[in-house]
Amino acid sequence: MNTPHIINIPKISDPRGNLSFIEEENHIPFKIKRIYWIYDVPGGEKRGGHAFRETEEFIVALSGSFDVVLHDGRQEYRFHLNRSYYGVYVPKMMWRMLENFSTNSLALILASTVFKESDYIREFDEFMKLFG
Ligand code: TYD
Repeated sequence: MNTPHIINIPKISDPRGNLSFIEEENHIPFKIKRIYWIYDVPGGEKRGGHAFRETEEFIVALSGSFDVVLHDGRQEYRFHLNRSYYGVYVPKMMWRMLENFSTNSLALILASTVFKESDYIREFDEFMKLFG
């Protein structure tokens, strides 16, 4: 599916503490080439503000909460993430912003590519022009 959507990941409930896991091409529709995380975000800050030409991502709030705001050139999507057993799949060519971080939130991001600055579109005008 090429629209952004929530994907539930397995949750093994256990009185000793819960466990979740993600398998590439099983729970998420791509091979994982890179993992990064965003943490220690000061109150009121936003991350993102760009699109990727090729990179697909899966974003999970491992701790705390934040909003993932996406735009596909036509409409906006907003996802509030606050549990570590689901995340949002972000297809390529989505304008994406992460905001409203709670204190001590931890955003885990699985990406389908290694880091390449040339994959970024950092101007919203340039992004919108690509849709004619
Ligand atoms: P950026 O993707 O712009 O951050 P965000 O979207 O979360 O606001 O990345 C910030 C800086 O970190 C930028 O200089 C590129 C660098 N960076 C890497 O070197 N490797 C990576 O995997 C990522 C995601 C960023």
